[in-house]
Amino acid sequence: MAAYFPYRSIRERKQTNDYIIRLEKKIEAFSQGQQLIQEELKQLSVLNGSSYLPFNRKISDEAAHSIAEYWSDRLSIEIQSNEIRYLERRAIYIEGTLFGRVATTSTDIVIRSLLAQSIIQQGRRFELLEIGTLFGLGSSMIYDSLISKNIDCNLTLIDPLDGYYGGNALDPITGLIASEKLLHRNFNKLSIPREEIILHKGLSTDKEIVEATHSDYDLILIDGDHSYEGIKSDYELYAGKVRTGGIILIDDYQHSSVWPGVKRYTDETIRFDERFEFIGAQSRTAAFRRL
Ligand SMILES: C[S@@+](CC[C@H](N)C(=O)[O-])C[C@H]1O[C@@H](n2cnc3c(N)ncnc32)[C@H](O)[C@@H]1O
Repeated sequence: MAAYFPYRSIRERKQTNDYIIRLEKKIEAFSQGQQLIQEELKQLSVLNGSSYLPFNRKISDEAAHSIAEYWSDRLSIEIQSNEIRYLERRAIYIEGTLFGRVATTSTDIVIRSLLAQSIIQQGRRFELLEIGTLFGLGSSMIYDSLISKNIDCNLTLIDPLDGYYGGNALDPITGLIASEKLLHRNFNKLSIPREEIILHKGLSTDKEIVEATHSDYDLILIDGDHSYEGIKSDYELYAGKVRTGGIILIDDYQHSSVWPGVKRYTDETIRFDERFEFIGAQSRTAAFRRL
């Protein structure tokens, strides 16, 4: 009999059953919690755009470590992982708040911001020139990283702003049309004052635009025409416009399967330009300092 009834009393049997019921309730509550966490995670991936963007938004621990190590060494500064996480978070916030998207990875945004911050000169207004602006998000993020360090900044932006590479074409990812109106809406959303934005609507090769830019930029980002001829003419026209100690950044340097001309021109010509020293290249960004 005892073999079929392993309880010493009815009371003990009831206690055991009650215990099992309590355990089952705990398991149920736990799996409900698990479901809630999974829902939250889904929300997060929507908020950081990873559900539709082709570029990473979340920087892995390994990548964050590699950014800190690589650029601390190249820039002779101590970069903390918290700084990387802060810039990553601001980038996700800015992209979530503004219209459109930034056309690169969070890793590149962080690298560009760190490079910009590394050449801050206290008391000097930072002059940033970007060739190829699209929705203005990349430049906004660098701007944001500078003003967070109490550095005033002017943004000089060159782009025809008539859709994705012209013809009022829709941006293939967001379905929006890059335009001057949208750009200013974006800057308003980030409370960037109009007087800090100099917009040259047109191509970087337009004579009047070249003439309208000065020769004292702290940072120039070449991110417009990614063909060999495009990067060549941008470099020839604008490299001399970086101040001594300033930096020129080449976008999509390490993305040669899509834009082979960028890497070829950089390796064949820019790396041998005696006016500049190569600082480093990581993810898609290559950086050179004006001597
Ligand atoms: C890759 S997107 C720029 C992305 C932007 N920098 C960002 O951070 O999101 C390239 C932009 O360059 C523009 N563009 C192409 N050729 C150009 C040129 N020669 N001068 C200025 N802009 C150009 C395109 O219309 C497009 O808006």
